[in-house]
Amino acid sequence: MLVSAKEMLQKAKAGHYAVGQFNINNLEWTKAILATAQECNSPVILGVSEGAGKYMTGYKTVVGMVKGMMEEMNITVPVALHLDHGSFEGCLKCVEAGFSSIMFDGSHYPIEENVAKTKELVKICAEHGMSLEAEVGSIGGEEDGVIGMGECADPNECKMIADLGIDFLAAGIGNIHGKYPANWKGLSFETLDAVQKLTGDMPLVLHGGTGIPTDMIKKAISLGVSKINVNTECQLAFAEATREYIEAGKDLQGKGYDPRKLLAPGAEAIKKTVKEKMEIFGSVDKA
Ligand code: 13P
Repeated sequence: MLVSAKEMLQKAKAGHYAVGQFNINNLEWTKAILATAQECNSPVILGVSEGAGKYMTGYKTVVGMVKGMMEEMNITVPVALHLDHGSFEGCLKCVEAGFSSIMFDGSHYPIEENVAKTKELVKICAEHGMSLEAEVGSIGGEEDGVIGMGECADPNECKMIADLGIDFLAAGIGNIHGKYPANWKGLSFETLDAVQKLTGDMPLVLHGGTGIPTDMIKKAISLGVSKINVNTECQLAFAEATREYIEAGKDLQGKGYDPRKLLAPGAEAIKKTVKEKMEIFGSVDKA
């Protein structure tokens, strides 16, 4: 059964660890992430961007696939199915399709509009027993067409949004989607510290988990980060393993072209990446 991410993140915040959100793109991704969460006895959040949702033919397909897989694979660890960087309309569609959690990304609106729209979704999520993530201060870079400048969040605006009754908050702290550029200045721990001081128990979310050094991840967790999003790193691991398989000519040997063989090294690479992240985030054996 899918669960809201509220309880798992409150536990993570109290226990000083973080739960990973791993974005899914297709069956291989979903299967690899669910299998790893079960093996690691870790709670997990499956992230779906609007672009990935569309790619998988729509949110109802995603819900059907995830629910079916959880049953067939005997997944017993807590799993939340979460819309990543949703528009207001996208959020409503996921509520209807049966997601257990949504993120409304109103960071590009003036704060008053972000507050008004987030407030409306707080009510809707409460009615459906779903969890809600909101965002203040944009995440830099680009993810599936969502582009952000990467400005740090204003801690007072974070408090305004947190007080609306959301379940967890993404605050921009200099983090970027995709690979970090060589001249990246690092995370702004001053901003994170100030946000946590004003928002208290609210679990904080760190987007752009790909490529953040382990010491920075650990420091962010110590300052209240309880959810870390990883997307690009699984894509890079999958692509590299698949390239190696093809460059070694394995698709031309026997029935090496069978998709179950061709995509297997990539799926294994995703599992390895997810396991490493769960160990660093401290969510192993926290199911
Ligand atoms: P990365 O692709 O940089 O890991 O970011 C993932 C993310 O933040 C999803 O919202």
